[in-house]
Amino acid sequence: MDTDITHVLLVGGTGRFGGRLASALLARPGIHLHVLVRPGTHGDALAGLAEHGVTWVRGSLDDMRSLDSALEGVDAVVSAVDGAPEVRVEGQLRLLDSARRHGVIRFIPSDYSLDYADPESGGAFMDAHRQVADAVVRSGVPHSFVLCGAFMETALSPRAQVFDFERGVVSYWGTGDEPFDVTSMADAARWVAEVVVDPRATGRRLEFVGDVATVNGVAALYEELTGHVLRRVCKGGVEDLRRQLARVRPEGVTVQQPSASLALLAQLAGKGRLREPANAEYPRLRPVSVRAFLQSRWMLPSAASAALPLASQP
Ligand SMILES: NC(=O)c1ccc[n+]([C@@H]2O[C@H](COP(=O)([O-])OP(=O)(O)OC[C@H]3O[C@@H](n4cnc5c(N)ncnc54)[C@H](OP(=O)(O)O)[C@@H]3O)[C@@H](O)[C@H]2O)c1
Repeated sequence: MDTDITHVLLVGGTGRFGGRLASALLARPGIHLHVLVRPGTHGDALAGLAEHGVTWVRGSLDDMRSLDSALEGVDAVVSAVDGAPEVRVEGQLRLLDSARRHGVIRFIPSDYSLDYADPESGGAFMDAHRQVADAVVRSGVPHSFVLCGAFMETALSPRAQVFDFERGVVSYWGTGDEPFDVTSMADAARWVAEVVVDPRATGRRLEFVGDVATVNGVAALYEELTGHVLRRVCKGGVEDLRRQLARVRPEGVTVQQPSASLALLAQLAGKGRLREPANAEYPRLRPVSVRAFLQSRWMLPSAASAALPLASQP
C-alpha cells in the first residue's frame, strides 16, 4: 500500500507539534527521517531521537540555498513550522519551490487546523493557510493537506482563553453547546505519519477528528472527574465573536491575543467544523477521547469514566 517514499524531510521538528511528528515518523517502519534545524536552535526537544539515525540538516526557510541542500535525496516534505507570515507564507513558499525543483512526490504544509476554507473559521488569521494551500495546488507538487481541528493540548489550556482549570474559570462565546473538533497532538502526528506514505492520500485534503466536544461538555466532564466546580463566564454571542474577528487584522494582533487564540476561539464557538473525517481509512489508529486526555492530564483513575457529556464521536 505504501508509496516509494523513504526519505522524509521534517521542517519545524523543533516545535511543539514538530517534536511529536518526529517521533511518529520515526515509529513508521521504512521512513528515514531528515530534520531541518535552524542555526542557533539546539533542538533539545529532539535530543532523545539522536540514536534513531536521524539526518540533521542545518538550514532555514529564509535561506533558499540551505533548503536546496536539505531537499537533496528527499522524497517527501512535512512542514510543522509556525510564526509570522514571513515564515508561514513566504518561508513555506520557498520550501515548496525547492520541493518542486527537486521532484518531491509528497508535500504536506503546516495546517493541522480547523477547516480554513470556511470563511467564518478564523477570519484573516487563517489567510496564511489559504494562501499556502492555493500555492501548493497550483505548483503541481503531489501533496496532502491534513486537518485535525484544535489540538487538545491547546484548546483545553489557558492559551485558548476558554478553559482555565487552575483558576477554576471557563469563558466562552455562544451558548457553550456548540460542538468543536479536537485531536491530541500525538494522534494528529500519527495520522500525518500514515498519510505521508499513503498513495491514496495524494492530492487530497484529509480530515481527522480525535473527539467532538462542547465547552459545557468539557466543563461538566472536568467537574465530574475532579469534584471542582468551574465558574462560567459568557463573553458574548457567536455573532459578537464573528464581529470581533472581522475587526482585528493580523498585523494588529497583540501578544496578549495571538492569532492562534482567535482562530481557536472561533473553533471553540463551533466554526470551521470538519465534516468528512477520514478516521475510518486508518483503522489502526484509535485516537484518545477528551475524557481520556483529561484523565491522563490529572492522572485520574480511568474507573471514573461514566456517561460522556460530550457530543457524540464522528
Ligand atoms: N489546531 C490547533 O489547535 C493548533 C495549535 C497550535 C499549533 N497548530 C499548528 O501546528 C503547527 C505547528 O505549530 P507549533 O505550535 O508546533 O509551532 P512552534 O512550537 O512555534 O514551532 C514552530 C517551528 O517552526 C520553526 N521555524 C520557525 N521559523 C523558521 C524558519 N525561518 N526556518 C525554519 N524553521 C522555522 C521553529 O524552529 P525553531 O525551533 O528554530 O524556532 C519551530 O521548529 C502550525 O501549523 C500551527 O498553526 C495548531
